[in-house]
Amino acid sequence: MDSESAGPGVSPPLPGRGEMDEAIHVIRDQADRLFLWDYERDRGQLVTLYNKAMGSQWNSVTDLDWATDVDPERLVAEQDSPMLAVARVAGTLPGSPLATWTEKEYSGLGMEFFKANLSQFMHGEQGAMMTAAKIVETVPWIDAKYYASTQTMDEARHTEVFAKYLNLKLGEAYPMSPYLKEQIWSLLEDSRWDIAYLGMQIVIESLALAAFGDMLRRTNEPLLTKLLRYVMSDEARHVAFGVLSLSEFYADLSQAELLERQEFMIDATLNSRARATTPEVWERMGTSAEAVLPFIQEAASLSGINPMRGFARGFFAKLVPNVRRLGLLEANGGYLREKWGEAGLLEYEFADDTASEYETYDAVAADRAADGQPGV
Ligand SMILES: [Fe+2]
Ligand SMILES: [Fe+2]
Repeated sequence: MDSESAGPGVSPPLPGRGEMDEAIHVIRDQADRLFLWDYERDRGQLVTLYNKAMGSQWNSVTDLDWATDVDPERLVAEQDSPMLAVARVAGTLPGSPLATWTEKEYSGLGMEFFKANLSQFMHGEQGAMMTAAKIVETVPWIDAKYYASTQTMDEARHTEVFAKYLNLKLGEAYPMSPYLKEQIWSLLEDSRWDIAYLGMQIVIESLALAAFGDMLRRTNEPLLTKLLRYVMSDEARHVAFGVLSLSEFYADLSQAELLERQEFMIDATLNSRARATTPEVWERMGTSAEAVLPFIQEAASLSGINPMRGFARGFFAKLVPNVRRLGLLEANGGYLREKWGEAGLLEYEFADDTASEYETYDAVAADRAADGQPGV
């Protein structure tokens, strides 16, 4: 009997073992869960942030107009994707698998890149939901447990809206990229509660703010624009939560413990594998990543277009100032300062300030004020 034909009060059957293996991934967490007897609200900045989060909740059903008509071709044309520009150059190279492509195929490729991008946002948001839930269970401060609970709700909403946008407006989603999967899995498995924060609130949320900001600048589609503005206003608070919590915790760690966190940061920034490649995009376009990538690389160097450059700048401009606030640049005789200096990342040391200026990202409050609704 399938689930549709199950009558009232009859539970649908569980999926078979094979289906479960396909649809469910098991992660073993090594961290202790902490139940607290101390309910004292003694972290004022976290109390403020939690109150702000409660007031800025938005509703994915009523605050977004899902009836908006979305024209996928126009959406792709507006994006003016640098990756697509490189692919067009690759199509002019002798022997290129793209040599026979017409405008129809390039437009299709733009669509697939766009869906692949939004799919990684969706999977990353689920990772954020699970990481925030892990923090609820593992952090030893009641104010942080309360805040992380609101973040868990925010991330559920983010996962849901990206999944809904893909499903309703664009078509089939892509699987999680192996790089993102490895990054998030390692946070969920780690025994140290602060590593979930460091990896998610500091690294991945900075990455997400940069990626969402990049997409927002490249779109005029009203539903996607509002969705991204609202998601970003939540994300900026999440980064602030990470900076507030970890700057307190790291002030009391030993130099040896801080060195582990500095190594984590070096691994997350300087040793990162190619983030952008989703091989399935090329398969859906009737070719393969192995066949195309040598031409893409040649086209990138010939044309001088680096599809990742603008995005990487946006990421480091958010990440580096926040890591400085945690004291991680200076610990162990300035070990991370030296490593990042060699890689040219210190130019971002005093760039964006998401940790204390999260209110400037609050599109939800701004829209409510414009509608004449009372502020919270
Ligand atoms: Fe999120
Ligand atoms: Fe977030």
